[in-house]
Amino acid sequence: SQTVIAVIVGSLRKDSYNRKLADALTRLAPPEFTFKHIEIGDLPLYNQDDDANQAPTVQRLKDAIRSADGLLFVTPEYNRSIPGVLKNAIDHASRPPGQSVWGGKPAGVLGISIGQIGTALAQQHLRNVLAFLDVPTIGQPEMFLQVNENFFDADGNIGQGSKAFFQGWMDRYVAWVKQHIAG
Ligand code: FNR
Repeated sequence: SQTVIAVIVGSLRKDSYNRKLADALTRLAPPEFTFKHIEIGDLPLYNQDDDANQAPTVQRLKDAIRSADGLLFVTPEYNRSIPGVLKNAIDHASRPPGQSVWGGKPAGVLGISIGQIGTALAQQHLRNVLAFLDVPTIGQPEMFLQVNENFFDADGNIGQGSKAFFQGWMDRYVAWVKQHIAG
């Protein structure tokens, strides 16, 4: 049977490096893994008044997370933290009280930026939020990535120089998710 991973990209930008990274990375997964892109750009701004009457887009988000076996967060760093659009989505799917859909879903966290620390601080903030939501995150290997001209090849795949490293990460992630599901 298929293992379904919900992919959440923290950028809405059309030419997002993080979207490209997510697409390239998920091509390295084994055939029994299916990756579903989660749309977060059409969610309303979170408002606690709406908890009892969540918008259809919020319900769609929650259904997608609920039916996933695992999560993959690929996010840029904005002002040394996670983008507001990502936090907005996380907050929506954590509500109302007792009806969060996040708990127990194993998650990978990575990101790419043009800055030198390669989203390290955004990832650390995200791990903090996910810890509270009872989402276990894979700790190693860390993936702090900086865009350079050879990062992606012409077809949008990971360039040769980094391919083995990414395959190693994916193999470890797959094994770790399987462990969580079995346990
Ligand atoms: C950035 N960027 C950025 N980069 C970084 O390494 N650390 C940071 O704190 C920030 N802060 C920041 C704030 C805001 C509001 C923007 C728009 C951008 C630059 C960022 O790495 C760059 O825009 C990436 O291209 C964003 O990722 P996507 O959209 O290409 O996936």
